[in-house]
Amino acid sequence: MSIALIILAAGKGTRMESDLPKVLHRIAHAPMLWHAMRAGQALEPARVVVVAGHEAEMVTASAQDYDPEARVVLQGEQLGTAHAVAQAAPELADFDGDAIVLYGDTPFISQDTLEAMARARATHDVVVLGFEAADPGRYGRLVTEGDALLRIVEFKDATDEERAITLCNSGVVAADARTLFSLIEVVGNDNAAGEYYLPDIVAIARERGLSAGVVHCAEAETLGVNSRAELAGAEASFQRAARARMMEDGVTFHAPETVYLAWDTVIGRDAEVEPNVIFGSGVTIESGARIRAFSHLEGCHVSRGAVVGPFARLRPGAELAEDTHVGNFVEIKNAYLGEGAKANHLTYLGDADIGEGTNIGAGTITCNYDGVFKHRTTIGKNAFIGSDTMLVAPVTIGDGAMTGSGSVITSDVAPGALALGRAKQVDKPGFATKLFEMLRAKKATQKKD
Ligand code: UD1
Ligand code: CA
Repeated sequence: MSIALIILAAGKGTRMESDLPKVLHRIAHAPMLWHAMRAGQALEPARVVVVAGHEAEMVTASAQDYDPEARVVLQGEQLGTAHAVAQAAPELADFDGDAIVLYGDTPFISQDTLEAMARARATHDVVVLGFEAADPGRYGRLVTEGDALLRIVEFKDATDEERAITLCNSGVVAADARTLFSLIEVVGNDNAAGEYYLPDIVAIARERGLSAGVVHCAEAETLGVNSRAELAGAEASFQRAARARMMEDGVTFHAPETVYLAWDTVIGRDAEVEPNVIFGSGVTIESGARIRAFSHLEGCHVSRGAVVGPFARLRPGAELAEDTHVGNFVEIKNAYLGEGAKANHLTYLGDADIGEGTNIGAGTITCNYDGVFKHRTTIGKNAFIGSDTMLVAPVTIGDGAMTGSGSVITSDVAPGALALGRAKQVDKPGFATKLFEMLRAKKATQKKD
């Protein structure tokens, strides 16, 4: 069965008090919209249609950044959720299969739940995702009879008796695409809000002799974001869940509540993460690697057996092979460290290739930027870069070569060679003693004055 996703993302999100449309506010470094789109990916949708409205250009760019194939339709005026879904009809006119409606501001629907909905379609024409709400507040209420879903009533239109129902509407709906659009066609707006309500399709389906059913999920999955406070709450809940999932998969966290993960962080089994580590997007940590305290990582890959930190910074394009060591106050950007290579202290390696077994001394800097262009530094295997070496790129250091401490290296160094790029040392016997005497005498006369 092919599946189309329809993701509603036209709303402004007034209560966010923001120039950014609500669905582009980020949780764990990804717009909420991406979280919703990613959840939908579990169903391997044949088509993805995003309904944009407020700041549609920004929403379109973001949707297509995540999925270049995503189609975006415009809802000029936000006349309600049924009206929003109707805008997707032209993009699905030739589509045979099911449509599943998701909300762009409800980022945490799980893949299992969506799969359960797809399965429930075997027994019901319309499937609605419901949840037992601790505080049903203003959610739409699901009116059921045994297994059957009779209708959904919006809070504003509900009687006291209906408001007492705790089974609520998440908004997620699945139905055959053609059926869905034919039901939506007859939804009216004669209600308390004067809006075209998507949930009205349930009662209309029943009138047509179609069946409707409910799939249940945990309330946490249906968490929506309407304000900055709720965004922060959603972030906290994402972080808790992501850390718990990783621990279940065999990752050690010394102080899980101090580690900040990104939406796409991947950490292998038996990896160890010390306190206060921050992950930006695009990080993969292989099994058995160790990320020590206060490190900051983004867009990088750390292989098995590598040790990073404490206080290390891995920036986009940092690629650490097995058993590498990157120590305190080392920054690595767009650079490869071969197996067993070490950069243990106070170093910047940018736009560089470092061969296996090479040791980078404290204070080494790849001078990769001339103010206009970036240049590469290439260092061979088993080389030894002396402390405080400036490697003025483009420059190549051969296998097994050495540079003397404090060298400024401006030309290539042959394999096996020792390069010294520093002034020759001059010694003046007794000079220090005389200098001290002179200075102390001067200080003594100043005190008398
Ligand atoms: C909706 C449901 C309610 C459910 C609740 C769950 C309706 C009428 N009510 O209410 O039963 O309990 O969600 O959170 O559907 N949107 C558009 N265009 C529009 C209107 C909305 O794209 O014209 C988008 C919004 O951006 C948002 C989503 O649809 O992502 C839900 O709309 P919202 O107005 O928040 O619906 P609720 O009143 O919360
Ligand atoms: Ca809402």
